[in-house]
Amino acid sequence: MSQLNFLPWSSVPLSQATLHENLPAVLDNHKFRWASSRRDTQAFAAEHGSALRAHLATTGCVLLRGFPVDGAQDFESLLDGLQIPLGDSYEGGVSPRNAVTGRTFTSTDASGYFLITPHNEMCYLPQRPTCIAFYCEVEPQRYGETPIFNSRETARELPRDLTEKMQRLGVLYRRFTAKRPSYSNVEKTLNQTFGTDDRVKVQRILDKLQARSEWDEKGNLVFDVHMPAFVRHPQSGQDCMNLVIFNRYAHSLDTALFKDRWNPWKLFMINAVMGYVQSKPRAFMRTLWGDGTELSREETQTLLHTAWRHSVLFRWRKGDVLILDNILWGHGRMNVQGPRRILAALGHSYDVHAMTRPAVSMYGRASWSEAGPGGGNY
Ligand SMILES: [Fe+2]
Repeated sequence: MSQLNFLPWSSVPLSQATLHENLPAVLDNHKFRWASSRRDTQAFAAEHGSALRAHLATTGCVLLRGFPVDGAQDFESLLDGLQIPLGDSYEGGVSPRNAVTGRTFTSTDASGYFLITPHNEMCYLPQRPTCIAFYCEVEPQRYGETPIFNSRETARELPRDLTEKMQRLGVLYRRFTAKRPSYSNVEKTLNQTFGTDDRVKVQRILDKLQARSEWDEKGNLVFDVHMPAFVRHPQSGQDCMNLVIFNRYAHSLDTALFKDRWNPWKLFMINAVMGYVQSKPRAFMRTLWGDGTELSREETQTLLHTAWRHSVLFRWRKGDVLILDNILWGHGRMNVQGPRRILAALGHSYDVHAMTRPAVSMYGRASWSEAGPGGGNY
């Protein structure tokens, strides 16, 4: 295996202390000068891709900083060079985002006022990306960090009775998608969600998702997808909490930890709006227990605040490429003032119902044998 020079993660600016002493590491091209052109970057990827994937398979997180990556096409080429297989679909995804190229999307088009709560990408669907890669095209000036959450450490710290409940019931995601956009809708339409509003085609997709669905007379759709709350990581065999909480409590519990970022009155209004939007019967998504009951405020607080205790707020620099294992690490988005453009590419998908050792590993063929099953502390 080729050797890489990793810098400790703490060498990049983070804005919140973490409970972890051994966080993932950084490949800093400013310091080690591997590449000064696109061509060098491709050569670097070809030479070190296998070692980087092995690192990713165990720690679940790699930051490449200071490489000459200029725009979506360069970002994709770098990921291709590293042999990280990408998907090209965001079918069924809930976040408002736009395709930039065939396999790169805006990370989110949600308003910068809001904090995007901890989540593993597409954890509300059985087919989810193995990893998610982000690229910073426009560096945010104020706030706009991407918090990342260690899902394994979060699972480990949850109270036993809550863990048992989560294992027993799982999580039900109740989604509402409108046939047509309306003034009051913040949710995506059928067409935006599934790429079609043809009922037969949508139903076929829902069957694939093993969703229970109901159509109203106007052609709007409500559907439930039942998901496990934990996913066993194929590399370490350890359980990771993989979920997202949309309910009346989530946004105010998240923002309670970062109150000084908003004017108090504005924060009150934002929390009130989010509380309303996320609790109305036709909310774009509601997170329920698997038996259809609601998560209490106390349960929501325990889950979210445990995740935040195992987080760091990552501060972007232009050109950064951050790759996260989507089982081991959750992510979110802090509120942001001013422009911010982060692009995202999704690793090829796996089926959460078939989480056995894959024939081809998460990051290409080499990483299983290099890292070894159960290898690494992450
Ligand atoms: Fe996301």
